[in-house]
Amino acid sequence: MPKPAPRTFAVKSFGCQMNVYDGERMAELMAGEGLVPADAAEADLVVLNTCHIREKATEKVYSDIGRLRKREDGKQPMIAVAGCVAQAEGEEIVARAHVDVVVGPQAYHNLPRLVAAAAEGKPALDTDMPAASKFGALPARRKVGPSAFLTVQEGCDKFCTYCVVPYTRGAEVSRPFAHILDEAKALVDAGAREITLLGQNVNAWADEDGRGLDHLIRALDRIPGLARIRYTTSHPNDMTQGLIDAHRDVEKLMPFLHLPVQSGSDRVLKAMNRSHSRDSYLRILDRVRAARPDIALSGDFIVGFPGETEAEFADTLSLIDAVGYAQAFSFKYSPRPGTPAAVMADQIAPEVMDERLQRLQAALNRDQLAFNAATVGRTCAVLIERAGRHPGQMLGKSPWLQSVHLTTDARIGDMVEVDVVEAGPNSLGGAERARAAA
Ligand code: SAH
Ligand code: SF4
Ligand code: F3S
Repeated sequence: MPKPAPRTFAVKSFGCQMNVYDGERMAELMAGEGLVPADAAEADLVVLNTCHIREKATEKVYSDIGRLRKREDGKQPMIAVAGCVAQAEGEEIVARAHVDVVVGPQAYHNLPRLVAAAAEGKPALDTDMPAASKFGALPARRKVGPSAFLTVQEGCDKFCTYCVVPYTRGAEVSRPFAHILDEAKALVDAGAREITLLGQNVNAWADEDGRGLDHLIRALDRIPGLARIRYTTSHPNDMTQGLIDAHRDVEKLMPFLHLPVQSGSDRVLKAMNRSHSRDSYLRILDRVRAARPDIALSGDFIVGFPGETEAEFADTLSLIDAVGYAQAFSFKYSPRPGTPAAVMADQIAPEVMDERLQRLQAALNRDQLAFNAATVGRTCAVLIERAGRHPGQMLGKSPWLQSVHLTTDARIGDMVEVDVVEAGPNSLGGAERARAAA
């Protein structure tokens, strides 16, 4: 049964920051069509912007769809599934869950047309990956917070044997330099003081003349009013000396690098098709630290990749000891249909994975606390992002991406000089020193 054309909408994003960015752009698009933002519990149209990276992520989508069908207000919202599950399982979602709209990550500029089709009872599925970019068809950026995302690169050509991203997001594509610069300026005009450049392999970004991400960062550095630049996620193989040098030269480029390694074992790295070794990864970090000694390092880890032995897992622990990460994400290996690793022999038992993940996270938590504790006594700039739980308390980020809470009358978007006075596992406490002119 077709549902009437929606008047209100909600977008719920899961997964990586690129999905958060896509979710913001879809919300801007629907608002541009005259729809009014609402809570998912009562919106006429609910967009589930999904992630396919692990099995649990997919199952969550189906349970979310089930919940929307039994919403407390008794109404049946129009349901649109977007994101990577839409791309990977388009037809199957329609068959299994009877959703109204399915739209892939490269096609969401067509969302208004698909919603209109669904309201007329017509099929509304678009998982094309057109050569022309969707970005040109999206409305300009308007209202944003002090810290904004900007997608500059999409897709992945690396084909790690466990990963669905090359299939759900397609081949590596860089957005043109001029378009990115325009969007960055629009974000700053709309209130952003920090921009995080996003890409599944953001450091594979290149312009038509082959200039890399460092070139883009140096251009953003010249935008008045922009105070901070970050980028994520990077691949070790695309970590050029030019980009490393930018960490030395560009003051606005924050001292933080998220550089996933996945494993500390060369045998496992090879089976993952990571195309870097333990040693080549560590040598990159040496060069990064030489350029920017205070840099905070972050990584991604997978435990229990098929065939991972206890000794190979111990190599990952020793790599963690050698690096001293400021923060990290860690996951149990999850077989994804269609990936080479899913059919490899020696899949690891769940209880072994659980136990390894616990040991891994204990090491990472230990290092994160040590990194935070080493910040105590330093003075640093904090970009205020939101109000805290207690009266007069505000929350912001340090240059090293730590959350900092402090009592201040500074407002969202202010940059405050802060003495770091205490450290916990997940945040710092600060005391205000001086306010930079906004
Ligand atoms: N392009 C980035 C991010 C990819 S997705 C990179 O190469 O690092 C984010 C993280 O999810 C990956 O770094 C990896 O640690 C994890 N991941 C991806 N596929 C996975 C799988 N099948 N099982 C468990 N973790 C996975
Ligand atoms: Fe996935 Fe590997 Fe590409 Fe990262 S580099 S998105 S882990 S295939
Ligand atoms: Fe997930 Fe797709 Fe991002 S699978 S991690 S939403 S690229």
